[in-house]
Amino acid sequence: MPLVNVFGSKGRWVLSALLIFAVICELAYCQEDTQEQRTTPGRKPKPSKPKLGKSTNKGPRTVIHKPKIKATPAVPAQAVLTQVLKRGKFKKVGDSISVQTGDTLELRCRGKPVQWSVPKYLEEDDDGRLRIVQHKRYGALTLVNTTGADTGEYTCYPMYCEDTDCRKEYDKAVRVFVFFPDPQELFVPSSDYYEAIQLRTNWPTLLPCQVTSPEAKVTLHREFPPVEVAVDGTEISFNVKRGFTIHRPRPHHAGALFCVASLGNLRQSSTKYMLIYVNYPMAPPAPVIQASSSSVAVGVNLRVSCSVVGEQDVVVEFTWEYPGQQIGRPLYTQESISPIGGGAARQQSQSVLLVDEVRDVDQGAYTCTALNLQGAKSVSTTVKVVPKAKPKKP
Ligand SMILES: *[C@@H]1O[C@H](CO)[C@@H](O)[C@H](O)[C@H]1NC(C)=O
Repeated sequence: MPLVNVFGSKGRWVLSALLIFAVICELAYCQEDTQEQRTTPGRKPKPSKPKLGKSTNKGPRTVIHKPKIKATPAVPAQAVLTQVLKRGKFKKVGDSISVQTGDTLELRCRGKPVQWSVPKYLEEDDDGRLRIVQHKRYGALTLVNTTGADTGEYTCYPMYCEDTDCRKEYDKAVRVFVFFPDPQELFVPSSDYYEAIQLRTNWPTLLPCQVTSPEAKVTLHREFPPVEVAVDGTEISFNVKRGFTIHRPRPHHAGALFCVASLGNLRQSSTKYMLIYVNYPMAPPAPVIQASSSSVAVGVNLRVSCSVVGEQDVVVEFTWEYPGQQIGRPLYTQESISPIGGGAARQQSQSVLLVDEVRDVDQGAYTCTALNLQGAKSVSTTVKVVPKAKPKKP
């Protein structure tokens, strides 16, 4: 059953034949691989020859004797991810699969070598349940004693190698989202009672209430006042593999929210999410600097202004560097914010550096750095100090 299903849609029969051959090889004829398999915990591989005889009736059986094994890696095949089921059956995985909690997850990915990525919690918390083995033609990932917490994305990256130098082929990665439906836990457990999340102006925000079962019905709720939040799919949408996304946060989205999942008789609440609204700029500031004069006479007052036009209520911080700094010349600054007319909610933030009674040491470059939550940018201007104008003599 699985052999033909797996590759039947691939079109070119040559490719199919090669791939089928490779699978057959993995199943029965590659002794090294089969032996390695035996060390995998929790599985009892059975001799699979009788079953194979049946499955290959449809296929070109002679292919088995084709000696050109080396031809296989030359085919630029997309990596294929298969799940090893009980009794040595294989199944090509789609977008997502469900594995009963407690059962063993076993995935195989064609390629030599391949690299895997697993849910973060598994990566960090290695308790010996995860095993990754590279066989001759495929990588195998085995996860035993599974729980709902293992729910997440499992990715296989084929590696492209030149000698010993290997890199991941990101565009050929194959991913599968694995649910581990837990009869007691509808949500993937979190160690935090609540989670603070910044809502940034117009930046999509994720409430990662991840369910362990794709069948769970999930709704979004506000704590005060206690209401269900409308999920229209545009402003807020739900994805069973990620959670809720608020696409363009506005101040009214802030507050304490949580998810509720129901399945059968079970109804559970997720961790609480404290959503804090932050006026967030779209880009780093673009300051403009201007000196009252590029050439000042000793004794005259100098003003250097630095201004940024940006979104309303976005804080911009200014810092200055100036020639008299090293010798501790005490300059001072004046900061101000003023709205800009014209409908769009924008404002001008300005910092003015004041130099009273300019001296020779004040000659040089004045640099203003403007900083917001997206980054910083500096601008400079040069000021020349010229001798005092001679007082007029009668
Ligand atoms: C899996 O669970 C069994 C039974 O509780 C235990 O004996 C075994 O050590 C566990 N295996 C791992 C790798 O944690």
